[in-house]
Amino acid sequence: MGQRSGSGRCTVVVGCQWGDEGKGKIVDVLAEGVDVVARYQGGANAGHTVHVGDEEFILHQIPSGILHGDRRCLLGNGVVLDLLQFFEEHDALRERGIEVDGHVGVSLRAHLLLPYHRVLDRASEAGAREKIGTTGRGIGPAYEDKAGRRGIRVADAADSHRFEALLAEGVQRARLHLERLDQTVDEAALEEALEASRALRGRIAELAVDTGLEIDRALARGENVLLEGAQGTALDLDHGTYPFVTSSNTTAAAAATGTGIGPTRITDVLGVVKAYTTRVGNGPLPTGFDPAMDERMRELGGEFGATTGRPRRCGWFDAVLARHAARVNGLTGLAVTKLDVLDSLDEIQLCTGYRMGGELVEEFPADTFGLEDAQPVLESHPGWKAPTTEARRLEDLPSGARAYLDRIEELTGAPTRMVSVGTRRSQIIRVG
Ligand code: GDP
Ligand code: IMO
Ligand code: MG
Repeated sequence: MGQRSGSGRCTVVVGCQWGDEGKGKIVDVLAEGVDVVARYQGGANAGHTVHVGDEEFILHQIPSGILHGDRRCLLGNGVVLDLLQFFEEHDALRERGIEVDGHVGVSLRAHLLLPYHRVLDRASEAGAREKIGTTGRGIGPAYEDKAGRRGIRVADAADSHRFEALLAEGVQRARLHLERLDQTVDEAALEEALEASRALRGRIAELAVDTGLEIDRALARGENVLLEGAQGTALDLDHGTYPFVTSSNTTAAAAATGTGIGPTRITDVLGVVKAYTTRVGNGPLPTGFDPAMDERMRELGGEFGATTGRPRRCGWFDAVLARHAARVNGLTGLAVTKLDVLDSLDEIQLCTGYRMGGELVEEFPADTFGLEDAQPVLESHPGWKAPTTEARRLEDLPSGARAYLDRIEELTGAPTRMVSVGTRRSQIIRVG
């Protein structure tokens, strides 16, 4: 279904929880068999960790396929491209010996995220009654400018006069906004960052391409494409725990809009879930642990934000959320990560429903504030108390771990395609 004859496969890799599911690791593993990897939304709020040998890379805007030598890595039109951070990441990868030149392209239609967006993000969080707990990377303000039809696109960078005029208007508007928020600005730091942005205008214009056209042609040539999601389904602007979400659609349908291909070009949607749940930033986490267990899992899983270093809150696997994610993303498969993190536990629980106001709720509710008080209905599984890190086939896993995975698959309703049992590329089980 959906695959034109003679065309390559186009797979979306999408987070199914609150981000940090291990998308970077899964994309890196799958990148072996593809030609193009593209990001379709978000920006430098993402932090995708990939281990290659003994080296660790944290990718924020450049797709995780970049660590595979000759893959073409694209930033689609749905991304808000942080100019300063992008070249910092680009040049740091080059310095570490990664081939970036000629491999990275950015959409002409992508919106630029400029220094004042970061200032506005922090200022609006500082002044907010109900804080979102954003990454402070300017994501909300950049998407506000896009939706407000006053953004600056990569295409505008080709014309220095137009770019300069739009930048001046943007700064002026940001200043007025900051005044309304009653927030002061470090003028010297802002001016310096704006000057650095001006200096990068020509460089970004040189990388500009039509990503939709490029991906469509690659597929027509029979090449395979990965569309790398950032954040996760519960952070989706429409389908997540609004308002404690990010400002983009993170879900699979956005992969078409955010790169410029038609939705019928997508052949597979692989949902990534951790074998438990984490969340960084504010908002409900219905399966959240008590403080002692929270601390223990954070240590076992190394659960600290890849972008901000903030501690991630931890909880049991939430099958209500996973089922919601399977449906809104149209998952064709599941990748379960960090199974090894559970290896030492005596008992493992998973959530099959919520008790909300005396009712049993089995579908992920729209009522975010009600979800704050939801009591998880938990099912208990005995821990397998054996290492899974050397398993390379499902048969290698302890029977308790297999039973746990089977239950996740059954409750989620999507077939398990991959199981990750460690940070390394080789620590992966492929199913089917
Ligand atoms: P992403 O944002 O979805 O790419 O995920 P992050 O990189 O923010 O967080 C996932 C973390 O878990 C990273 O530190 C990964 O190196 C690590 N990780 C990924 N898969 C596994 C796994 O199967 N086992 C263990 N122990 N760690 C993993
Ligand atoms: P990856 O791609 C986890 C969270 C923030 C905050 C909310 C809004 O690594 O999975 P924003 O800065 O986007 O306006 O913040 O979203 N958040 C993430 N949480 N992983 C991410 O990305 C995230 N990107 C944003 O913590 O709660
Ligand atoms: Mg992350």
